[in-house]
Amino acid sequence: MALKITVIGTGYLGATHAAAMAELGFEVLGLDVVPEKIAMLTEGRVPMYEPGLEELLRRHTAGIEGATGRLRFTTSYEEAGEFGDIHFICVNTPQKHGEYACDMSYVNSAVESLAPHLRRPALVVGKSTVPVGSADLLAARLAELAPVGADAELAWNPEFLREGFAVQDTLHPDRIVVGVAGDRAEKLLREVYQTPIAEGSPFVVTDFPTAELVKVAANSFLATKISFINAMAEVCEAAGGDVVKLAEAIGYDERIGKKFLRAGIGFGGGCLPKDIRAFMARAGELGADQALTFLREVDSINMRRRGHMVELAREAVGGAFLGKRVAVLGATFKPDSDDVRDSPALNVAGQIQLQGAQVTVFDPKGMENARALFPTLAYAATAAEAAEGAHAVLHLTEWREFRELDPASLGEVVAERRILDGRNALDPDVWRDAGWTYRALGRPMA
Ligand code: UGA
Repeated sequence: MALKITVIGTGYLGATHAAAMAELGFEVLGLDVVPEKIAMLTEGRVPMYEPGLEELLRRHTAGIEGATGRLRFTTSYEEAGEFGDIHFICVNTPQKHGEYACDMSYVNSAVESLAPHLRRPALVVGKSTVPVGSADLLAARLAELAPVGADAELAWNPEFLREGFAVQDTLHPDRIVVGVAGDRAEKLLREVYQTPIAEGSPFVVTDFPTAELVKVAANSFLATKISFINAMAEVCEAAGGDVVKLAEAIGYDERIGKKFLRAGIGFGGGCLPKDIRAFMARAGELGADQALTFLREVDSINMRRRGHMVELAREAVGGAFLGKRVAVLGATFKPDSDDVRDSPALNVAGQIQLQGAQVTVFDPKGMENARALFPTLAYAATAAEAAEGAHAVLHLTEWREFRELDPASLGEVVAERRILDGRNALDPDVWRDAGWTYRALGRPMA
């Protein structure tokens, strides 16, 4: 009989995983403790912007015309416990307030709420990003609380999806990593992922700690790569070099590679910043803090970028923000997402506003979330409206729409034709030819 799957937590990760499991042919039940989220999903609506996700969801959600009906949603752990052979835990693990460590309360509560309803053999699969050592503790807790005892098994299967590409990354992962304690768990997970495995996705089997570490090691490497190129941008600025050319040139070396070498205002979002901090905190607890002191530097290079962008903007408007109008293009932490968590763009906008400028923000998808987080900033309905009367325009999230802006017509509405590219994504020649002063991080002035 086909496996039945539950997905606990329906955020970016869970909603995508649930819809993808239905697409792969399984019967799926998604669970969330927030009734409003469940109500939306049941109607085939996604509570965030993620390209292709709503279509995928609507293709499978029961009750939607023409859907396969393989995907349903609930708020009941009892129903989930009865329904599933495999339960994926996809809740978030945010940074704790005032600490580097991550908050495990959602993961713990998911396991503790589900376990008492496991009355037949089941596999619980953690996907959330957790401190190494968590899976061992959770496996013991699960066996202790589940009526079925040791037949409630645990596995760890970290997720590597990128926001903006969540559907593609989930259906066609570049690797599948499973931390297991026995053959049965491995066999079940091979069955779950048989389609991507058949398509060639490598399937890496490890123990619990290695699977947990793979995830934070991958994000730490990516964060390090970005901070490396941003450190080079600092040196380029001091020496009169061009970091974009430098990145292109080193990127031709296959061992280095071109990706994740875009210098700018740095990384943000709900993953990279908190993951490197939680990793440092956990290494400290394990007595291995020395191994990760470099991540402190990665973090501080990254945070420095935001302050540097503010300084460049201040310089551009003549040394003081008071009485100046600044247009900010982009609010999300990256394009093709509506996520503003720890967004460098919003952070820069907020700092400039606090220093006395009148800041107007426009983002193609992130307006609602940005407004909720920074209600004191002004928001415009279009890029051109944001730019009206501006003494400087700051390009802080590299949406395609901004790359396609016409500098000549934008030039008609601004007070001064001055653009600062915080993402090194615009074409300097196009802007300069239209009479703009173009400035970017890590590049020569003209
Ligand atoms: C990241 C990882 O890339 C995923 O593999 C991982 O699954 C995910 O975290 C997670 O842990 O859940 P994501 O947060 O969606 O994914 O964003 P990224 O595409 O990694 O971008 C992170 C930040 O780095 C963005 O603010 C982006 O603008 C910035 N960035 C990226 C740069 O500043 N320069 C670059 O060259 C690349």
